[in-house]
Amino acid sequence: MSQLFSEFHIKGVALRNRIVVSPMCQYSAVDGVPNEWHMVHLGARAIGGAALVIAEATAVSPEGRITPGCTGLWNDKQAEAWAPIMRFIKKQGAVPGIQIAHAGRKASANRPWEGDDHMNPDDPRAWDPLGPSPIAFGANLPRAPKEMTKDEILRVQSDFVAAAKRALAMGAEWLELHFAHGYLAQSFFSPIANRRTDEYGGSFENRARFLIDTMKAVRAIWPEKYPLTVRFGVSDFHADGQPLEESIAMVKMFKNHHLDLIDISLGFNTPDISAVPWGPGFLAPIAERIKKEAGILTAVGWLINDPQLAEDIIAKGQANLIMLAHKELDDPHFPFHAAKALSVENPQNVLPPQYAFWLKGR
Ligand SMILES: Cc1cc2nc3c(=O)[nH]c(=O)nc-3n(C[C@H](O)[C@H](O)[C@H](O)COP(=O)(O)O)c2cc1C
Repeated sequence: MSQLFSEFHIKGVALRNRIVVSPMCQYSAVDGVPNEWHMVHLGARAIGGAALVIAEATAVSPEGRITPGCTGLWNDKQAEAWAPIMRFIKKQGAVPGIQIAHAGRKASANRPWEGDDHMNPDDPRAWDPLGPSPIAFGANLPRAPKEMTKDEILRVQSDFVAAAKRALAMGAEWLELHFAHGYLAQSFFSPIANRRTDEYGGSFENRARFLIDTMKAVRAIWPEKYPLTVRFGVSDFHADGQPLEESIAMVKMFKNHHLDLIDISLGFNTPDISAVPWGPGFLAPIAERIKKEAGILTAVGWLINDPQLAEDIIAKGQANLIMLAHKELDDPHFPFHAAKALSVENPQNVLPPQYAFWLKGR
């Protein structure tokens, strides 16, 4: 029996299998408001049979967007536009989720297909990025952020809380905090980006403070019946980054503050990613270690494009959920194709009857 296609119960939520549509920025919103594109993009993948569809990194404040095309949740108009999208995902039998985020020093950039670099500060669409310290990421993102004051830190934390409340009101049943990929929260944790000398920098406890305080504040308002998760960049695979042991300690702290699941990803605090050991499922052994040492439910992604690899990761207990991005772009019906490859009985039934009826035996 396939483990990838076994149900997964967490809090009050039931996932029909272990396949998750990983959050994917679409850079297609206007003023942070999602539209028909987001409905079709996310809706198609819910139809395709994934168990959980997590909407893209959605900014908690205007300056927290990566690009001017990123979605937001800093006002009610945005939440109202998300609501039918969440409803549609749920109607297809998938759990509707969203990732909330602040891009920090990587904010104010052009869309990937329009350069993927910081906008010229003179561009009327540009804004001033914020960060823990005035240190630029480098390479295509050369702008040094403004060092955040304590008031700005507290304001962004309350923006996370306000966005989480809107996420709940609009029908999200799974909330992921984006604490990875070199964006604001991750950059607070990273010695590469954070050189502060106040209570938010220096020691492990201080670099952890922004992340823990933000998570605790969101946990306080996010209902117990729905999962709260963190996507965390556990390593930069770089000598100047945080050691993996620190990341494990961080995950233990998240767990002690009642985080439900950790979504293992990369740090991306530096453009130098030459030591990342890219390869199919390369983060799975790290996820397994964190799952065991921190005793927490785990999701893992990155280069898991093959049904058997996904099956093996779940069957070996390395992770509880598989996050898919590129593969889901390539094939929104990947769950159907994976079910066939893994000889699941009546694989067409991962699709809705409008499709399943016609695809029986094909
Ligand atoms: C188009 C695109 C947009 C992405 N946007 C996000 C995002 O909003 N939040 C996030 O945490 N990761 C984002 N990612 C990373 C993916 O969620 C995923 O972790 C990564 O692509 C590795 O998985 P894969 O090998 O299955 O593609 C994005 C990836 C792609 C391809």
